[in-house]
Amino acid sequence: MPDTNKNFLLEEVFNVKGKVALITGGGSGIGLMATQALAVNGAKVYIVGRTEEKLENVVKAHGQNIAGEIIPITADVTSKDEIARLVKEIESRERYLCILINNAGIAGNTQQTEAKTAEEMKKNLFDDDSSTLDDWVNTYRTNVPQLFFMTMAFLPLLQKATEHQHGYSGTVINISSISGIVQSSQHHFGYNASKAAAIHLTKMLASEIAGNGLKIRVNSIAPGVFPSEMTAGGESGSDQKSHIDKDKYAKVPARRPGKDQDMAGAVLFCAANQYLNGQTVAVDGGYILQV
Ligand SMILES: NC(=O)c1ccc[n+]([C@@H]2O[C@H](COP(=O)([O-])OP(=O)(O)OC[C@H]3O[C@@H](n4cnc5c(N)ncnc54)[C@H](OP(=O)(O)O)[C@@H]3O)[C@@H](O)[C@H]2O)c1
Repeated sequence: MPDTNKNFLLEEVFNVKGKVALITGGGSGIGLMATQALAVNGAKVYIVGRTEEKLENVVKAHGQNIAGEIIPITADVTSKDEIARLVKEIESRERYLCILINNAGIAGNTQQTEAKTAEEMKKNLFDDDSSTLDDWVNTYRTNVPQLFFMTMAFLPLLQKATEHQHGYSGTVINISSISGIVQSSQHHFGYNASKAAAIHLTKMLASEIAGNGLKIRVNSIAPGVFPSEMTAGGESGSDQKSHIDKDKYAKVPARRPGKDQDMAGAVLFCAANQYLNGQTVAVDGGYILQV
């Protein structure tokens, strides 16, 4: 093959072999898809979650006979102390961190938003027991500050990835959502507001980090509907995979929920493309075209 063609090979364009990654919420749903996308293609992936059993299940079901590695670490990433402990743990094992995926997230409560009168709308969204300030704050705490504190805590290890690898920059991928882009509340105002904040936070982080002369790319993936514990009513199998019926999402232009491969393509693109920075990539089967 002529040398001029080599740069176009898939294993060059999407090369993640030997990269060190950390994925919060890697024990189920989208985080697990990201974990498999990287580990199957040769990356060493640390998965972080609060439930040890979920993480161990992932290692058992998906961590054998692959080019890379999946390593579980239990931690709650809404606590600064826990984040600091995570950094120490990775520092003790690795020279640098190439890919940080801030994926852990929670949905919070839902409310009925449809109403025929102002009184009814107030009843649904103010009087209802599920509508609390604590619910907004808890959702925000996991979905927004976590991205900020994880990124700041891992900055030195991410910058070291840039310094130690020619032509490669350490990278952060925040898993936001199309919920932060659409105008509808989708029955959870607090969640959608938190995801809009995550998208803006991605841009601010990319801008401030670049402004300080550091070479670390920060992007976000905004998924549409993918099977996960969040979207399948808390359910996943012994392999930590979830299922949602295709019919439920027949209105999406793709006429189905997202698949593993759809998320894998997005994760590999954001992880490997050295010219992508400050962006949000929506992977939603056309969901936002119709809202
Ligand atoms: N699935 C979708 O359709 C969809 C669409 C758009 C965006 N998203 C976003 O995708 C991300 C992943 O969600 P998912 O849908 O894949 O749901 P999921 O299956 O519930 O995954 C969330 C993961 O995050 C972990 N987690 C939650 N809080 C944590 C904490 N404080 N510390 C550490 N780990 C924590 C959970 O494990 P533990 O409970 O064991 O900690 C769980 O494995 C979220 O940010 C979500 O908002 C999902």
